Amino acid sequence: MSSLHVTCPGGSYEVVIESGGLQSLGSRIQSLLKPARCLLVADSSIVDDHLPVAVESIESAGMELARCTVEADESRKRISTVEAVFDEALKAGLDRHDCIVSIGGGLVGDVAGFAAASYLRGVDFIQVPTTLLAMVDASIGGKTGVNLPLPGGALLGKNLAGAFWQPRLVLADPSVLSTLDPRELRCGLAECIKHGLIGDPELISLISSERDALLEADPAATSMLVERAVQVKIGIVEEDEREAGRRVVLNLGHTFAHAIETDESLDLKHGEAVSIGLVAATALAEHRGMIEGDWADGLRDLLAGIGLPVSLPLARDPAELVTRMRFDKKVHSGRHRLILPSCPGRVDCIDDVDEESIHHAWMQVMPS
Ligand code: GLY
Repeated sequence: MSSLHVTCPGGSYEVVIESGGLQSLGSRIQSLLKPARCLLVADSSIVDDHLPVAVESIESAGMELARCTVEADESRKRISTVEAVFDEALKAGLDRHDCIVSIGGGLVGDVAGFAAASYLRGVDFIQVPTTLLAMVDASIGGKTGVNLPLPGGALLGKNLAGAFWQPRLVLADPSVLSTLDPRELRCGLAECIKHGLIGDPELISLISSERDALLEADPAATSMLVERAVQVKIGIVEEDEREAGRRVVLNLGHTFAHAIETDESLDLKHGEAVSIGLVAATALAEHRGMIEGDWADGLRDLLAGIGLPVSLPLARDPAELVTRMRFDKKVHSGRHRLILPSCPGRVDCIDDVDEESIHHAWMQVMPS
């Protein structure tokens, strides 16, 4: 078991990483917050596997439990889903001393966190991430939110409405990863590689050397990975809780990813879109002469060796993708701000990336 402390102005909390730790959820909530009631917001995809353990743990710790389910689908990451959580909270009579607990992937955590941030102007929130991606990234840092329909209504703009709301506890149980869809596990590995590129080159070496054990969700390998990747995330959010500076580096690959992941015909999960985004960001850095050393091909090989996409599954008009990136929150006064890597462990925030270079980067990830 390891417990990593997060200190932010908006709240300090522990990230507990414990194989089998799900059984201790109720007693941990009880000793930390002593609520009379919990609303458990569960990811629909985990209902059969781990939900009964969480339910039993909360009930046997003496709290009244209300439950609702959120479908882990980008199209459901909407204000209307947050309203549905409010309805359940009201029906259960949740008051300001009670708490909302999310169990599942990042999407459910973002929705439940936004509901916790705004219900009664804010109630305590606990994150129980059950995907690798959520354990190492989405559950930590306090960003919560939902997508909004873009003008025209056909596409969703990612996370355009939300709040910073730090959880009171994050409980990650790596043993649950053994039942995770292998595709989701690979998505989490993309996010871990991103963390390595940002701040821990040895994390990339670890993923490369332990690749097969990680793909089998070996508990020792995944626990080590989660702890190391979480440390990168904590270091960044502690320095910059509200994305006023350093935190922006976490967007490495994400501005590209956001332009493709809501395109339903591409059928990409977030981590898969991030994988393509990492390749595109690296290609853009190469185009600008920023890359030091010859690691870029190795990164592409590592992602592909894990089974992650390194190009779009279907061709898309690069000009349209560039246009879509203009709706991203990181566009300031019409200039694109992108995070670009120079070598594993070092990235820079480039404020004035021209659209011709972005067009070139998209061309590098078109299907051959
Ligand atoms: N909740 C994810 C983050 O704050 O980065």
